[in-house]
Amino acid sequence: MCGIVGYIGNKNATPVLIKALKKLEYRGYDSAGVAVYTGENIIVQKAKGKLVNLAEKITGEIIPENLKDEAYTAAELSLYEKTDSFIKGNLGIGHTRWATHGEPSDTNSHPHTNMDGTISIVHNGIIENYSELKAKLQSQGVVFQSQTDTEVVVHLIDKYYKEEKDIFKAVRKTLQALEGSYAIAVICKDYPDRIIACRKESPLIVGVGKGENFIASDVPAILEHTRDVYYLGEKELVVLYSDHVDLFNFDGEKIIKELSHVEWDMDAASKGGYRHFMIKEIHEQPKALIDTMRPRIIKDGKGCPTDVYFEENKMDDVWKTAGRVVITACGTAYHAGVVAKYAFEKLARVQVDVDVASEFRYRNPILNKKDIFIVISQSGETADTLSALRLAKENGLKVIAITNCVGSTVSREADDVIYTMAGPEIAVASTKAYTTQLMCLYLLAIKAGKLRGTLSQEEASKLLSELETVPAKIQQILDDKDNIQKFASKQFNKDKVFYIGRQFDSATSLESALKLKEVSYMHSEAFAAGELKHGPIALLDTKSLVVAIASDPELYDKIGSNMVEVRSRQAVVLVITQNGKAFKGKTDEVFQIPECSSVLASLLTVVPAQLFAYYCAIQKGYDPDKPRNLAKSVTVE
Ligand code: F6R
Repeated sequence: MCGIVGYIGNKNATPVLIKALKKLEYRGYDSAGVAVYTGENIIVQKAKGKLVNLAEKITGEIIPENLKDEAYTAAELSLYEKTDSFIKGNLGIGHTRWATHGEPSDTNSHPHTNMDGTISIVHNGIIENYSELKAKLQSQGVVFQSQTDTEVVVHLIDKYYKEEKDIFKAVRKTLQALEGSYAIAVICKDYPDRIIACRKESPLIVGVGKGENFIASDVPAILEHTRDVYYLGEKELVVLYSDHVDLFNFDGEKIIKELSHVEWDMDAASKGGYRHFMIKEIHEQPKALIDTMRPRIIKDGKGCPTDVYFEENKMDDVWKTAGRVVITACGTAYHAGVVAKYAFEKLARVQVDVDVASEFRYRNPILNKKDIFIVISQSGETADTLSALRLAKENGLKVIAITNCVGSTVSREADDVIYTMAGPEIAVASTKAYTTQLMCLYLLAIKAGKLRGTLSQEEASKLLSELETVPAKIQQILDDKDNIQKFASKQFNKDKVFYIGRQFDSATSLESALKLKEVSYMHSEAFAAGELKHGPIALLDTKSLVVAIASDPELYDKIGSNMVEVRSRQAVVLVITQNGKAFKGKTDEVFQIPECSSVLASLLTVVPAQLFAYYCAIQKGYDPDKPRNLAKSVTVE
């Protein structure tokens, strides 16, 4: 997830672009850049790190660290204004990056340019077929500067521009060659009166001003200048001039759209109209899962999924002979590891030990060089996880990291990295990072199953096809969120909440209980359902809520009996299941999830639990984005 902006009008583009990017920093902040046409040339400036570093690079002025902040400080604002005197031009594009391909660096920052610097582009999204395109362009003599997927786009536009002698045709032809998701903005020295932009599966809006026009990934970027916007639809293009905009479909036909007037205030706008980042990020899960999964599923000529591909992959042989898998992580990431234990043992028939990282490192763990070590960390900076990784490496183990942050310490120190493509997660409580971790782990388990010969081609294809249906099923759950909200409004005053489940569902119970306690401060615990009667049942009374997670039809009877035990102690019972009818008379409430095989259902069952936690926090009047005593990244032991 990155942020892009574009400006054409009477003002100097540089400060307009930089201030607009500040409003998009929530979409990524590992580097930023602008390209401005000065009347003679396109000048590009880019810098690693936060946007303020870019302004410092442009102006040559450094402001003290304590005057830099996530919020706009007066010192930062004044620095952004000062860029006005350094790069002058009325046309430009800008980018704030969340690295996916290539570490955060000046070179990998956008904008990217063609070899003679006459065309410049910014991109948000992922070009899935970039390696084939890059190889082909390289064989034709193109020299690449960066490790990004994006750079292929500008070289393709350059190639087609030379053939077509028309920039609009060149952009359209390029789009036909691209697979993946993108919002792209293009400027060309030969066309100093326009910006061309387009979108497919990544957001893009067009801001319409008086004598000036804008494009941006999100509304907050342009609210200072205009509230009149076009929401660009799937596979639509726009050509912006200073006095008008023309809209097209990908076939190049002109289209007419209705101009919308934005009524939101700035705070609501930065959350995409949602009240909090947590609920926004819960809603981003279908898209994040598609981004995480789609480039990694290999298909045959008929479009049937056959195998899994990971960009960094030196471990195929190790999987074949691995004696054991050891997973370590903390918090939510640890819970993803617990789900993975069930998935790896079932699909790849390999023993899995999962450990909380803070415990693992202090007990002199028994490690064997034939073990595969997996660390999971959204931030890639968690101190305990990092120490566990180092311990494993000291013992000669190969380490795979699953992380959301390109260039993080964990990603640099591991042997292989699998990135979750969740985009920046702002809310402290992890939601989309968790489900994208699960997606990576399922893909890895399927690949391991194939390599170890425990999963037939047919079984692997079936599972991969089913994984492809998951994002739409999560969307169905989200569309039904009012039911969870109603339930939360009745239950948020419960003294204690217990999540129970068996097998995969016991892992989801752990994550569900953590989510609830983190944001609503309600006392919640998770138990393997069969354990209830060995102690925890003593806690149950009329002030208790028990949420049973039941995604495996083979275990319905067993968990059904546990629910009856609970109800007879006057606790309220909710069941999250694909088949509410199976629990008739055993529950007070049912939350139905779409049909899904039990092995993959963990991707679905957690979503109602995330929503329940969120709505309980709201009912109690708490800010779910900033729970007390918690930090997003825990870099101390
Ligand atoms: C809970 C949560 C934490 C993190 C944990 C590990 O919602 O976010 O439990 O999962 O602090 O953080 P990472 O994944 O960054 O290593």
